[in-house]
Amino acid sequence: MRKRLLCALCVLLLVMLSGCGREKEEPADSKLVLGFSQIGSESAWRIGNTKDIEEQAGAYGIGLMLENANQKKENQIAAIRRFIAYKVDVIAFSPVVEDGWENVLKEARDAGIPVILVDRDISTKEEGLTTCLIGADFYKEGVMAAEYLIRKVDKLGLTRVNIVEITGTKDSTPMLQRQAGFMATIAGDERMNVLESVDGDFLKSRGEECMRYFLDKYGDTIDVVFSHNDEMTIGALPEIEKAGLAPGKDLIIISIDGGQEAINVLKEGKINCVVECTPKLGKALMETALRLKNGEGVETVIHPEEQVFSDEMDVSTIAPRGY
Ligand code: AHR
Repeated sequence: MRKRLLCALCVLLLVMLSGCGREKEEPADSKLVLGFSQIGSESAWRIGNTKDIEEQAGAYGIGLMLENANQKKENQIAAIRRFIAYKVDVIAFSPVVEDGWENVLKEARDAGIPVILVDRDISTKEEGLTTCLIGADFYKEGVMAAEYLIRKVDKLGLTRVNIVEITGTKDSTPMLQRQAGFMATIAGDERMNVLESVDGDFLKSRGEECMRYFLDKYGDTIDVVFSHNDEMTIGALPEIEKAGLAPGKDLIIISIDGGQEAINVLKEGKINCVVECTPKLGKALMETALRLKNGEGVETVIHPEEQVFSDEMDVSTIAPRGY
């Protein structure tokens, strides 16, 4: 009897757990059902991106099955398998890292379900497992960050600057591409000296830890912090201040995303430059999903327009960011 009761409890627990992280299911009268696997909630950017996708799904009358993977690739793979089992019309996902998607994407292809990449890219041996990518040009963001730095160094007349880099999640597209764009742009400029790059995983707490590590190791010889997102930048700033240095003055601070919190800090003069990365990808996602459902062709890459906010402009004119 006790054994049977225990079994029943286990089944109940399994049923409850299988629904973990699932936030919404589709309305009965939707035009199509879209399964979307989101990476997690690691940043204001990510939370803004989830909100935008939910709002746009509502606006387009699309049924959204949204699953939050809490930063884990295996959760994303399990979510995609559930979408296949559910026979959604279109699958979309933001891959946490680039590798390891081949098998599950072949399963989606065999089930005849088109897949859209949102925000980040993947790397697979076999081509054509996804239909298109809707997301920022991360390489260009790295280039824009470096171009700002070159202008700033010119303006200050510096002959040598020591740079530390706090990178995003290892092996993710924004980490790889932002770093590549930044490094390629400063290469050959003899004033630029990269001291070290450390993985901050796009998290505020890691930004804090990385900055503490850099300050312990290099002290006040650091001239520039290039951080791959606002969350890590905001984590790093108090550490700089605790070390008796003024961010934005003693150190040049460059961030990426352009969320409201970072823009407020830019206005206070503690960040020098924020390269925009917009999370508002929902409209393009819904329009692309509808085209796929109707058997129409889609663009293979959709990059949103992005800009640079910095101390070179009148920062009081920056409109509210919405994320
Ligand atoms: O993939 C986009 C990046 O992921 C954003 O820059 C970052 O804030 C997010 O977590």
